[in-house]
Amino acid sequence: MSNLVRISMSLEDTLLERFDQQVREEGYPTRSEAIKALMRQNLATREWTQNERVAGSVTLVYDHHRGGIVKKLMDVQHDYGSVIVSTQHVHLDHDHCLEIIVVKGEAAQIRELVSVLKSTKGVKHNSLVMTSIGENLT
Ligand code: NI
Repeated sequence: MSNLVRISMSLEDTLLERFDQQVREEGYPTRSEAIKALMRQNLATREWTQNERVAGSVTLVYDHHRGGIVKKLMDVQHDYGSVIVSTQHVHLDHDHCLEIIVVKGEAAQIRELVSVLKSTKGVKHNSLVMTSIGENLT
């Protein structure tokens, strides 16, 4: 369990004004909550760069008529089964599919998976949300 500590800091007034404006626009209840969110975001990003255990989701949009793409994406997901938690498939329209692949595991292995997925012929768009497994963010 964490204890609450109080800190003080010095910074330029113009920087604080701009930050407070952002805090209001983004709807944080207090400046402290906004700063904590920034710190956690930074820590989560660092988990990815330091190759720690991380979590995330990969979203793909592709045309399933494109030759062999469904089998190729399936084969890749079986190859990386150890870091894939679940996959959700949505039929967007007659041609297009959207797939959300939830991942959890070593960052380097997930990056490798993402690299293979996004370079698969026929994938029209991809997006990776890099988040944390949460245990180091208090
Ligand atoms: Ni589909």
